[in-house]
Amino acid sequence: PGEGPPDAEILFIGEGPGFHENQQGRPFVGAAGRLLDELLEKIGLKRSEVFITNIVKCRPPSNRDPEPQEIEACSDYLDRQIQAINPKVIVTLGRFSMNRYLPNAKISEIHGQAMNVKGRTIVAMYHPAAALHQRSLMPALEADFRKLPELIAAAADLPEYEPPEQGDDPKQLSLF
Ligand code: URA
Repeated sequence: PGEGPPDAEILFIGEGPGFHENQQGRPFVGAAGRLLDELLEKIGLKRSEVFITNIVKCRPPSNRDPEPQEIEACSDYLDRQIQAINPKVIVTLGRFSMNRYLPNAKISEIHGQAMNVKGRTIVAMYHPAAALHQRSLMPALEADFRKLPELIAAAADLPEYEPPEQGDDPKQLSLF
């Protein structure tokens, strides 16, 4: 299910368990997890203060992308987790969890920007594994993490996000 305090202010949603996560039954314990821990530490947050979970709860074979029906199958479970935790801010890591809230958005254009989606504050960020594979994404990921404390403080005052129509100029997104 993930791990963290049941009343965490921040919820991180990754993609799905990998090999090590599957072995240990804990989220983000491999290389991407170590980077996540470092990013949190740099902004003065301990891993034990945030809730970390995934969009799919079972490991996709050979770490392939989760399929739409797998995401759908886990969706109610995640909904109920979010209801129970009721976080102030949800950080999506990677495009699969971003797509749950922002189906037409491009991560390269909206990462690090807080949006109010159906009353919840969502901030999309690059997946730590993506930044490990493509080092050029690391500065953006670090900068987005640095914004988190401020975004948490501002979370209550966001205007409602208006989803773009397919093909809209992404610069027209109504962003915070
Ligand atoms: N990547 C994810 O998306 N989730 C994990 O739990 C580990 C790696």
